[in-house]
Amino acid sequence: MTANRRFLLARRPRGEPAAEDFALVETAVPAAPPGGILVRNHYASLDPAQRGWMDDAPSYMPPIPLGDAVRATTVGVVHASDNPEFRVGQWVMGLNALEDYSVAMPGGFTMAIDVAAVASPSNYLSALGAVGLTAYFGLLEVAQPREGETLLVSGAAGAVGSAVGQLGKIAGCRVVGIAGGAEKCRRLIEDYGFDAAVDYKGKDHAALVAAIAEAAPDGADIVFENVGGPVLEAEVFNLALHARIVLCGLISEYNAPEKLGLRNLWQVLTRRATVHGFLIADYAHRFAEGGAQMAQWLAEGRLRADEDVQEGLENAYAAFMRLFSGANTGKLVLRIA
Ligand SMILES: NC(=O)c1ccc[n+]([C@@H]2O[C@H](COP(=O)([O-])OP(=O)(O)OC[C@H]3O[C@@H](n4cnc5c(N)ncnc54)[C@H](OP(=O)(O)O)[C@@H]3O)[C@@H](O)[C@H]2O)c1
Repeated sequence: MTANRRFLLARRPRGEPAAEDFALVETAVPAAPPGGILVRNHYASLDPAQRGWMDDAPSYMPPIPLGDAVRATTVGVVHASDNPEFRVGQWVMGLNALEDYSVAMPGGFTMAIDVAAVASPSNYLSALGAVGLTAYFGLLEVAQPREGETLLVSGAAGAVGSAVGQLGKIAGCRVVGIAGGAEKCRRLIEDYGFDAAVDYKGKDHAALVAAIAEAAPDGADIVFENVGGPVLEAEVFNLALHARIVLCGLISEYNAPEKLGLRNLWQVLTRRATVHGFLIADYAHRFAEGGAQMAQWLAEGRLRADEDVQEGLENAYAAFMRLFSGANTGKLVLRIA
């Protein structure tokens, strides 16, 4: 290829991203920088977090500069190298961007990956990547589940949520998932082995509180939160005493122009619950350990990891929006090469 197609952030979205907030442009393929590498991207991860990086607001990472390609974790092949630790043809993953070729300086998140050991290199963006490890460390390290406890997971049919529920079963919990629609609820039980499923769609606050109470009659010892908003507001009425709430994501709020926050905090107080903010980046130094355990459970058939692979940089916008409509079935990945 002689051109580098790049999916740029042209304008900061207000509310739900619009197609006009982005631009697909062609530039020259860059050279490997001194001491660095040039990566031909094959797959890119499409993540709810990218929506946050598009805002000019304080966060754990700087906003994507306007006119830059949209930041994304990718897996690809070293195309050119000026670094003795990386050879041309080697597979790597790293925090790059939605573009055919990314310039990367080794260090940080850039690491070699063994694609011979997996069904598809994209597995390093799902079960064996940040998403699977978010479930692994967020549940097993932060929440520390104990046998017999009730684990309540929101966004349960998604990439993180489905892994959390399955890890909860491995830990001996009773697992209740909340997801949108009857088909996703069916998959929670039949595909991922959850004990009960609650469809949040079409329910007002009282109906959602009641549906969770029916599915989790003893209350939730652990809430693994991926959604926030009205779902979290119903969950806090179903806490067991001393519940642990892992705040992993708040996707229902990412496109909201105004962040309203949690009402009903009184319920958290009366149940003497703990709320723990969680970021997977804090566990980057333990990725090898978590990845090895996830790979073993996958190989043993104790863990199922579905991927929703969409095709082509030219479809990046439509593919990204699947996260917010709930159309994605498993970890959303964009195939670039
Ligand atoms: N803290 C961390 O380090 C970390 C790392 C990775 C991911 N996360 C968070 O984990 C969560 C899940 O991420 P993922 O990559 O696994 O995505 P995902 O769950 O595979 O996909 C997003 C899902 O969110 C649900 N959703 C979208 N809008 C919603 C709304 N308004 N109300 C309720 N549900 C809504 C949809 O499912 P339904 O059809 O069920 O609505 C959609 O399929 C996100 O909040 C993300 O930010 C956090």
